[in-house]
Amino acid sequence: MANVLYITAHPHDHQNSYSLAVGKEFIEAYREANRNDEVMHLDLYQMKIPHIDADVFSGWGKLSSGTAFEQLNPEEKAKVSRLGELVDQFVAADKYVFVNPMWNFSFPPIMKAYIDSICVAGKTFKYVEGKGPVGLLGNKKALHIQASGGVYSQGPSADFEMGHRFLNVIMKFLGVPVLEGIFIEGMAVTPDQAPAIKEKAIQQARELAKRF
Ligand SMILES: Cc1cc2nc3c(=O)[nH]c(=O)nc-3n(C[C@H](O)[C@H](O)[C@H](O)COP(=O)(O)O)c2cc1C
Repeated sequence: MANVLYITAHPHDHQNSYSLAVGKEFIEAYREANRNDEVMHLDLYQMKIPHIDADVFSGWGKLSSGTAFEQLNPEEKAKVSRLGELVDQFVAADKYVFVNPMWNFSFPPIMKAYIDSICVAGKTFKYVEGKGPVGLLGNKKALHIQASGGVYSQGPSADFEMGHRFLNVIMKFLGVPVLEGIFIEGMAVTPDQAPAIKEKAIQQARELAKRF
């Protein structure tokens, strides 16, 4: 039995979003093919995800100089413990499915806040002398589903794409061997093709769900 985190970074629902519509098809097909797996939906816009701010830095600073957790102030306690919960949940999962729209060539900021919560030395990566950081999540699987108005998986705009490439770097950093991608792209460039683009991505998602 695998634990799957279905991580969506979108303020809308699947009826108003290409990425969520394809994500939904993927996760339904996945559930169908893997009935014993546990799928948890992390709807990032509905969750408390602390930013790494002054409270977090002062909390971490106090802890690293030997102060007991109970001695932190209420803001430090709440934010530091919530960040700890998020990374522990990520480590406990076996598979990750990230879903987002492309906004200004990347993903929405809530996804960056989430990524900041899961990159933790000693939990998801460690420093090894002479080697730099080494990822600790070598046995996990990851998929990224992203929708964009333009086309970035190939062609003249490929260099502008920073959502999938960023997530790919983060997964490598954490040791996750492969980040697969499903891109729903080009609906703004060829609006008449939008339904076909969506349908093709849905087929791709259903196929991938059987072997992910
Ligand atoms: C704030 C914002 C920024 C966007 N930036 C880009 C962009 O940089 N490149 C692009 O091709 N499309 C851009 N788009 C278009 C979306 O990527 C496109 O509508 C896509 O379908 C969004 O995914 P969704 O359907 O899941 O919401 C942007 C849309 C919004 C609302």
